[in-house]
Amino acid sequence: MKHIFQKGTDPSKPTFLMLHGTGGNENDLLPIAAHIDSQASVLSVRGNVSENGMPRFFKRLSEGVFDMEDLKMRTEELHEFIGKAAEEHGFDRANVIAIGYSNGANIAANLLFTYADALKGAILHHPMVPNRDTELPDLANVPVFIAAGTNDPICPAQESTDLERLLSDAGASVKLHWENYGHQLTMPEVEAAKEWYDNL
Ligand code: MLT
Repeated sequence: MKHIFQKGTDPSKPTFLMLHGTGGNENDLLPIAAHIDSQASVLSVRGNVSENGMPRFFKRLSEGVFDMEDLKMRTEELHEFIGKAAEEHGFDRANVIAIGYSNGANIAANLLFTYADALKGAILHHPMVPNRDTELPDLANVPVFIAAGTNDPICPAQESTDLERLLSDAGASVKLHWENYGHQLTMPEVEAAKEWYDNL
């Protein structure tokens, strides 16, 4: 997959897996990675799907309606890619924290829904429930930060509370953070994510 890798200055720090929103690319979230922890390594990936020229991580049938076959296939593809990238770039595969926004947060959530050990933790900005027809793996103590907007038209509040419940029921340690905005990724929620990360 097309990506940027930046080696961190402290090898004990995690590698941030950066996953952009629809129409974004691997450059978009680099400032956020640097803001959360400037010493961490960064693996920032471009989604392999193109929707009228807009990169995404999996296909959708319409707004908020996912192509579940494609989501499954692309989640496996991303999972495999992280393993290969760890070998190629020499980072610790067991210490990867995903930071995703919107479509990128959705595939990060689906990594959590599919594999017990794909991610050490995750920061999800405006995610939805990726799959309502699956049994989650044991996510005991996996820390997950969810940032949601009370006025998010793409991701209604119920999606966020359902996602929090599903992940918590699987054992994850979930913090759900609300801002009174819409679907945009806001600076206050990035600050809240940083505070959460600093206390891990
Ligand atoms: C998705 O398709 O993943 C969600 O609707 C969010 C987005 O607009 O990308």
